[in-house]
Amino acid sequence: MQFFLDTGNIDEIKQALDWGILDGVTTNPTLISKTGRSFMEVAKEIVKLVDGPVSLETVSLNAEGMIKEGRMLAELGDNVVVKIPMTPEGVKAIQVLESDGIPVNVTLIFSPAQALIAAKAGATFVSPFIGRIDDVSGEGMKLIREVKTIFDNYDIDTEIIVASVRHPMHVVEAALIGADICTMPFEVMKKLFNHPLTDKGLEQFLKDWEKVPGRPF
Ligand code: G3P
Repeated sequence: MQFFLDTGNIDEIKQALDWGILDGVTTNPTLISKTGRSFMEVAKEIVKLVDGPVSLETVSLNAEGMIKEGRMLAELGDNVVVKIPMTPEGVKAIQVLESDGIPVNVTLIFSPAQALIAAKAGATFVSPFIGRIDDVSGEGMKLIREVKTIFDNYDIDTEIIVASVRHPMHVVEAALIGADICTMPFEVMKKLFNHPLTDKGLEQFLKDWEKVPGRPF
């Protein structure tokens, strides 16, 4: 499963790149607004830093506007993926952008039917939002299982980006289901490394090492 960071923060992206586990980045207007920086400045910097796909979101509500913004965003780099919301106008825009050769990530997916429509329109990626479903007492991971089953049933190539991730178990469950990608906040990625028994075990090894005679280092 590929790991994407869901962020607009350059320092977080640099840290994940340094760890060598970053496959791509997703952003949205909320994440960009948190940086307090100019959209174009941040977008250009991320696209240059990351080799993998970088999702940048359109904000128009009609297909014409989405297509115009999508084409403009795609000029920022070959790795740009245009994020389009799951609406009837969005579905029209997906078809035009994909036929231009611009990959689309369909965002704000909350049902298997929406994912199926996005795939039928030729989207490269769909982003089901699991955390927001959990937040309203639903079962976000059930959506991932259903979308995966539907895509497998029909050999659909559209890749599933598990989005709106809240904790490490979301990442593990996404991998167990076989989702293609999980996009996560930096805090979740950091937590993936941790286990208290690793810390405890390392502390003991280092303590015992001090008792070993003839230590070369
Ligand atoms: O980028 C889309 C998605 O991951 C947003 O997550 O935490 O705002 O529900 P969240």
